[in-house]
Amino acid sequence: MRILITGSNGMLAKQIITDLERGYSEIGPLPSEMLHPQILKCDVEDLDITDNNACRAYFIEHMPDICINCAAYTNVDGCETNQLDAFKVNAMGARNLARACELVGAKLVHVSTDYVFSGEGTTPFCEYDPVAPKSVYGKTKLAGEKFVEQFCSKFFIVRTAWLYGYEGNNFVKTMVRLGKERGSLSVVDDQRGNPTNAADLSHHILSIAPTCEYGVYHCTGKGECSWYEFAKEIMACAGIDAIVSPCTTEEFPRPAKRPAYSSLENMMLQATVGDNMRHWKDALKAYFENQK
Ligand SMILES: NC(=O)c1ccc[n+]([C@@H]2O[C@H](COP(=O)([O-])OP(=O)(O)OC[C@H]3O[C@@H](n4cnc5c(N)ncnc54)[C@H](OP(=O)(O)O)[C@@H]3O)[C@@H](O)[C@H]2O)c1
Repeated sequence: MRILITGSNGMLAKQIITDLERGYSEIGPLPSEMLHPQILKCDVEDLDITDNNACRAYFIEHMPDICINCAAYTNVDGCETNQLDAFKVNAMGARNLARACELVGAKLVHVSTDYVFSGEGTTPFCEYDPVAPKSVYGKTKLAGEKFVEQFCSKFFIVRTAWLYGYEGNNFVKTMVRLGKERGSLSVVDDQRGNPTNAADLSHHILSIAPTCEYGVYHCTGKGECSWYEFAKEIMACAGIDAIVSPCTTEEFPRPAKRPAYSSLENMMLQATVGDNMRHWKDALKAYFENQK
């Protein structure tokens, strides 16, 4: 099995590569088809996914069986001022990979986001619920999803949320740093979602990839919370004695509008390979235990 990982220097990609190389994930064994693969690792310097011809040529030369697209323009606020760059990576990049996969008969696992939803709601969004992104990031990611559906017949679109991992910068690491540096901080309490450990996401991506259960998946940690509740739990798990206070989105304005409620229901996982995502508190606890 030849597996191409794009955006290979990123947080999720590094977790997936670790799991493929060792043959198991933090939460269990990998499917037998995914053991001892040839891993093709590409970040922008090896394969710029915005370059259509380069994608085509790479796929013809290397003939991957599966492409896992972890490359993205993930700076949510930066997308508001760099719309074209965000569109090129999140939408056109996804299109180029979808066409290249189709050309060689490869499967495409394309990672997307809860920010494709409006954020207006009080119960978790299922895969079939209508999308209505409010930010440039969400809009460009949705455009990428549409290209994937349009140009690739063997696709898995995997929407995740509030991702953190051992590699790269993320909310958990920022909170730990700020908690230690400042001793007190305010965190928004009026946006709710599902914190997701990259190890759990990697496990499920590698579980669905060898199957033919194509379609759109939600893949997030079980349970939901606000960023404030998430930050409190991070301090508790990290043993940091910082004061965390709730604040509103209005009190902490950002360039990009975030969904107030973007909790996801993992219905496709339940209907196919099984939903073994851990509760967000358990996955967070494991994250700190495994770091020691
Ligand atoms: N992080 C989250 O909270 C979150 C939440 C929901 C969904 N997601 C989705 O999950 C996926 C993985 O996210 P992540 O946090 O692991 O991302 P990440 O750490 O930002 O990694 C993305 C990688 O893609 C690379 N890249 C950017 N432009 C590229 C291009 N034109 N060609 C090839 N590679 C390029 C980046 O390189 P540079 O660093 O050099 O730009 C980076 O190494 C993304 O699809 C993201 O939208 C993330």
